[in-house]
Amino acid sequence: MRAKILDPSFENISFVADVLHRSEVVGVPTETVYGLAGDCHSPLALARIFDSKERPTFDPLIVHVGIQAKGLESLEEAGVVDPSRVSDKQREWFSRLTNKFWPGPLTLVLPKHKYLPELVTSGLDTVAVRMPRHPVMLSLLARFGKPLAAPSANRFGHISPTRAQAVEQELGDRIGFILDGGESEIGLESTILNLSAQDEIQILRYGGIPIEEIAECLPEVRIAHPQKTTEEGGESSPKNAPGMLSKHYSPDTPFFLLPRPLDFSGSNLDLVQAFRGTQKLQAGRPIGMIRIQGDPKQAAERLHELLPDTPVVVRSLSEKGDLRESAHQLFSTLREMDALGLSALFSEPCNETKGLGYAIGDRLRRAAAP
Ligand code: TXA
Ligand code: MG
Repeated sequence: MRAKILDPSFENISFVADVLHRSEVVGVPTETVYGLAGDCHSPLALARIFDSKERPTFDPLIVHVGIQAKGLESLEEAGVVDPSRVSDKQREWFSRLTNKFWPGPLTLVLPKHKYLPELVTSGLDTVAVRMPRHPVMLSLLARFGKPLAAPSANRFGHISPTRAQAVEQELGDRIGFILDGGESEIGLESTILNLSAQDEIQILRYGGIPIEEIAECLPEVRIAHPQKTTEEGGESSPKNAPGMLSKHYSPDTPFFLLPRPLDFSGSNLDLVQAFRGTQKLQAGRPIGMIRIQGDPKQAAERLHELLPDTPVVVRSLSEKGDLRESAHQLFSTLREMDALGLSALFSEPCNETKGLGYAIGDRLRRAAAP
């Protein structure tokens, strides 16, 4: 039996709430990516989430709350956060951030409530919480009446799904239902901030809220970036979020990041050239190239000169050069190109540090990690 995709009618949302009350797990839409939701206070539901995704239990989950759970005290009542371990300064940061960004793609790490099962937090004494803004997810949370744990609805390490059909591809043989909320608006996951340090806010994952918007909201607070892996410099180095493995979001097709964006002036397709040198390109099988923004045609011509015998499929994530559009297209393009039977897939890197640039760059580096 394959999973059934349900329209988000009132009846279906109520039906899904009942399914969740039986500790089953369901694919649900959010504005970032689709999630695999289960009752965060049911160890059985949590075990099913980890099982269906084949996710290691050292990788903690994000708890999703509804509109009614906006303040720290409501998060305590919902059995998610322990406000007695939140300092006055952290309270102030919490209320400014949530007033501005909730509901929305911002996840905050706070002290965990004692009734929240350890499986949610992988044994940590903190919990990651967010209030999503997708209207179908908010209706479901209201109808279910309790918070929902939900990781992205992909098999562990795979590309995150941004449509119900992609959830079906990933998990259709393991779950009963997927609630269809259309295409995810943002297309990559929430930004995760650690609020449990006293002197700074730590970015644990780049995501749907650009860092400059966080800085604007809290101008006097020091914001520490995740541990730098490669080219980006950086003054501070908090720990990365647990479970943020260097390889993630990966297509099955061999995937390579170009060392720098295409400029067409010289031969900066050295990686493609090196790849051809290894004889791994199979005659007749196409290769793919992803541009972050701009014109796909020039790239197609240049690649054709370089590899006259190899068909090339080029996609630009945003021809008009809008990073929001690039983010929105990223996972769906990776997924689409992964289904083309390419012998290799290449992408430009995203070196943009404004807006969603960090988040796009991070996902591409992890997708291409060896
Ligand atoms: O946009 C999103 O956040 C999506 C949608 C479905 O809401 N969810 C999502 O979940 O991206 P997932 O499981 O793919 O990523 C959760 C990540 C973990 O891998 C970990 O890095 C971080 O959240 N995390 C969870 N609990 C944490 C904690 N207590 N401390 C630090 N990081 C935590
Ligand atoms: Mg994920």
